[in-house]
Amino acid sequence: MDVIKAGGLTFSYPDGTKALDSVDFRAGKGEFVGMLASNGSGKTTLLKLLCGMLKPTSGTVELNGRPVGGIPPKEIFRMAGMVFQNPADQLFAATVAEDVAFGPTNMGLTRSEIDGRVAYALEAVGLKGLGAKPVQRLSFGQQKRACIAGLLAMGQELMLLDEPTAGLDPMGEYRIMELLMKLNREKGITMVMSTHNVDMVPLFIDRLYILSKGKVAREGSPAEVFNASSQLKGIKLRLPQIAELIEQMKDEDRVSFDRLPLTIGEARRELVKRMPGH
Ligand SMILES: Nc1ncnc2c1ncn2[C@@H]1O[C@H](COP(=O)(O)OP(=O)(O)O)[C@@H](O)[C@H]1O
Ligand SMILES: [Mg+2]
Repeated sequence: MDVIKAGGLTFSYPDGTKALDSVDFRAGKGEFVGMLASNGSGKTTLLKLLCGMLKPTSGTVELNGRPVGGIPPKEIFRMAGMVFQNPADQLFAATVAEDVAFGPTNMGLTRSEIDGRVAYALEAVGLKGLGAKPVQRLSFGQQKRACIAGLLAMGQELMLLDEPTAGLDPMGEYRIMELLMKLNREKGITMVMSTHNVDMVPLFIDRLYILSKGKVAREGSPAEVFNASSQLKGIKLRLPQIAELIEQMKDEDRVSFDRLPLTIGEARRELVKRMPGH
């Protein structure tokens, strides 16, 4: 069954801006789903609708087969959580541990259960030993990890992440993606993340939605979506850089490739095959 499923989702803001138009979206249990789009395409709006923070103008959202509108907020928080793009919108307690403890405390757990969950979550995101630190003293990347720890401590099965790599340096981006992939693979947490980092997508994401002007422009595996590269041109997105190189070699240098490599590893294998002596 789908953990989250939305059908015909349309949303307009009070000022009349139509941010989403008839969007169908789903994520199966344990999937790592991406939404790739340029700014202003409706990514944040869609994530907020999926976790019930916004109510659709029309259309439906179901969490584990139940209409989100009919689930008490407290119950939604046990199942699904959202990591905001800006950690300052999310973190509010004085220390890291207090912030991470907020969710479990609200769930009415005992002190020792709460402490156990906080320790587990901080360790899982690589912030062990930083529990007593004031939230503002963390680096930006550590703040993002603290937000993720807050969700982990609640044991949610679905994480919705709004551009989790935005604002990080390249190594920080890679490490956050590795953390999310680990939580996905090892703990079975269903991941839905928005991004405009095209290069990261084929490395980590199972299935992809491309949004453009509030509509789903394409949906499929990264291979399916990027192999139809002509369709990306109209929507302000490029191919992963390595795929761009291969496309140019195909078009301009007439080197033939059966399929388009999307990662450095795939491209390397394809290119080495063509080298004399291999
Ligand atoms: N609070 C708001 N009031 C009015 N319009 C908004 C509001 N938030 C976002 N929008 C508009 O909705 C559209 C989608 O925005 P958003 O979901 O934030 O896109 P993205 O996250 O892809 O950048 C944009 O045109 C944006 O200007
Ligand atoms: Mg956004």
